[in-house]
Amino acid sequence: MKQLDRRSFLKTASAVSAGTMLAPKLFALGAFEEEPARPVSANDHIQIALIGAGWRGQLDTGEAVQVPGVKLVAAADCYDGRLVHCKELWGKDVFTTRDYNEILARKDIDAVIIGTPDHWHMKAATDAMKAGKDVYCEKPMIHLYSDGPAMIETARSTNRIIQIGSQRVSSILYAKAKELLASGAIGKLNMVQAHWDRNSSLGAWNYDIPLDASTQTCDWPRFEGTAPHIPWNPEHFFQWRKWKAYGSGVAGDLFVHLFSGTHFITGSHGPTRAMATGGLRFWNDGRDVYDVMLGLFDYEMGFNLALRVNFVDGGEESEGLTFTGSEGTMQIGENYVSVTRVPRETEPGLMVGNYADAMQKEMTEAYRKKYPITHSDNPPATGFEKFVAPDGYSDTYDHFKNFFASVRTRKPVVEDAVFGFRAAGAALLSNMSIEKGQVVNWDPEAMKVVQS
Ligand SMILES: NC(=O)c1ccc[n+]([C@@H]2O[C@H](COP(=O)([O-])OP(=O)(O)OC[C@H]3O[C@@H](n4cnc5c(N)ncnc54)[C@H](O)[C@@H]3O)[C@@H](O)[C@H]2O)c1
Repeated sequence: MKQLDRRSFLKTASAVSAGTMLAPKLFALGAFEEEPARPVSANDHIQIALIGAGWRGQLDTGEAVQVPGVKLVAAADCYDGRLVHCKELWGKDVFTTRDYNEILARKDIDAVIIGTPDHWHMKAATDAMKAGKDVYCEKPMIHLYSDGPAMIETARSTNRIIQIGSQRVSSILYAKAKELLASGAIGKLNMVQAHWDRNSSLGAWNYDIPLDASTQTCDWPRFEGTAPHIPWNPEHFFQWRKWKAYGSGVAGDLFVHLFSGTHFITGSHGPTRAMATGGLRFWNDGRDVYDVMLGLFDYEMGFNLALRVNFVDGGEESEGLTFTGSEGTMQIGENYVSVTRVPRETEPGLMVGNYADAMQKEMTEAYRKKYPITHSDNPPATGFEKFVAPDGYSDTYDHFKNFFASVRTRKPVVEDAVFGFRAAGAALLSNMSIEKGQVVNWDPEAMKVVQS
């Protein structure tokens, strides 16, 4: 209302002209970085193994072996059909086993990719590092808060490289977003909103169960690990995300990506306060985690974060982040980052239309005296810019390229265990807030829940 009044009354010469406002600028982000033309020497080769050869593990490995000088030599999984498929994908010489310890005992393996369900991340990662292997561990890094310090300490004491698999941290889109925010493109950041909405059965984790699933083809006790024992259950095996015993709900599966992105772009270490709510609104299929979750988080850097995951959405499936600053917004979609600049007003405006005519006139004159109409030669920057990733761009490939560069140089990775714990620790605050029915506090520097 105020704006309408102000515009209709004063028609002040705003520094922003409609022409500049709407002229969009489109940029293609740098294409794939060329790989060095030199051949990778024999002793520069990195031999890897996959632990947990399901959907993500296979996808990760497919990207990893495209990095020059990287070869898969072994795979471990609890379902035989996936081990068979590993040989189909990467050759019959790939050594396969149900027991990852057989892989860790091999001297010819430099690094492992861990693509198990969340409840195995800490154990598999620490076992691998203690066996002298570098580790690429899928997100969320932790299942329990105690996993974080154990993984950080093991990486330190064994001097192993560990990278966590939130691939957005290596994305050219997120690098551009970080650069834009730091350059002041949207002014002072005051709020981040991020969402992940789905409207499909697969989106709600109802993955297909193979026809031969049984206790003969699946190593159920090994899969269960430290999870509370229940009789063989193929749904729990193949759709484990639906149960807290193995996964961490939408917070661990999806919020964690949004935290990793937010932390990378802002440079923040994490929220100090969190509250979340949600419910099981649609997928009443025996799962014990919510299909709708909303979380609110306070950051000491001076912004708030609002997250939403919705598996019941009647609209299009979508994910994205919106950074709102004092002078514009920045949006990240699946293959682009865009900035809309709306600089702050240069005068406060006047809302006098409901006063007597004489008073309106008097106030308008006084206002114009105080804020004379100026025509600036240098209007504040405004407009819309969009940066688009090249077709086929894969941030997972870039994340692996960064990981293997660190494996070779022993230089720090882009997403170490501290970063991974800060993202996953923040995400799991949502589950804790819902369980306790209250606001929960977190110390992002010490990476500890603050008891209230
Ligand atoms: N970075 C991403 O974008 C992304 C995307 C999807 C999944 N993920 C993560 O990847 C992980 C795996 O997810 P998924 O969808 O591939 O699950 P999945 O069920 O398809 O695969 C997990 C595999 O791990 C195996 N497994 C379980 N315990 C094991 C053990 N002790 N030793 C060896 N293998 C074991 C299972 O048999 C199964 O085949 C999860 O932590 C998930 O959060 C990350």
